[in-house]
Formats: sequence, structure tokens, C-alpha cells
Amino acid sequence: MKILVINGPNLGKLPQRDKALYGFKSIDQINEELKNKYQNIKFRFIQTNHEGIIIDELEKFGGDAIVINPGAYTHTSIAIRDALESIKKLKVEVHLSDIYNREDFRKINYICDVVDKTIIGKQDYGYFLAVEYIIEKLSKK
Ligand code: DQA
Repeated sequence: MKILVINGPNLGKLPQRDKALYGFKSIDQINEELKNKYQNIKFRFIQTNHEGIIIDELEKFGGDAIVINPGAYTHTSIAIRDALESIKKLKVEVHLSDIYNREDFRKINYICDVVDKTIIGKQDYGYFLAVEYIIEKLSKK
């Protein structure tokens, strides 16, 4: 099974951000733990601060499922939404924080209705829940 894990802007700087919201782990640590826990899965990990790179990655995606945390682009990017919408594979959106219980501008979500599942507010554990969800769904196929 091949899973693409994409993290968007500012997620490469998690240890410098608000730990109460985002937890204590870096994205590299989370990715490493995912790789170690699910050794049968072939992961491709991308962290980028650039909207176009996220879209390029989605365009060339050839795996089985996508886990994506678009960061602030969640609330602004019709382009990422359109790219995700065109991919007919399993897609899970993850947010470390609970975006629906923060500032009002974070309640705008352009992504949630073009993915199969949205996981919010579980900090790094959200990525593990996303992979569990994918395993469960794809093993039923
Ligand atoms: C985030 C939530 C976004 O609103 C924010 O801009 C982020 C991280 C999260 O994981 O909780 O950078 O996507």
C-alpha cells in the first residue's frame, strides 16, 4: 500500500509553534513514527510551504491514499481543493488542532467536502488515526 502524506505551510516548524494547539512533536518525528509503526506501507512524505508544490504532488500522485494537512491553505485554497477533488482515491484531511473551535476564519474549510474523512484536534495522533482509517477502508476492498 502506498500513502502520500502531505503537510503544508508552517508545519515544518511545529516545535516553534503553540504546543498547546499542535503538540510537542515535529513533522519529521511524526513521519518517522508512522514509518516505523506501519512498516508494510510505502510512504511518501512531503512538507512544503508552497501551494503550487502541493498541487504538483497531487497531480503526479499514483498511490493508494492521501493524508493531507494543508495548514492555512485549508481556509484559502480553491486550487488545492480542485486538485483533491479530481483524485478518485481515498483522501483523509488531518488537523492537529481543532480548527472549528478557534478563530472564525479557521472555520472556513475548502477541503473537507472533497475528502473522505476529516480528523481534527487530536494533535499528532490524528495522522495515526488517518492511516488506521485508510487501512480499514482499503482492506475491505
Ligand atoms: C492546522 C490548522 C490551520 O488553521 C493552521 O493554519 C495550521 C495548522 C492544524 O494542523 O491544526 O498551520 O492545519
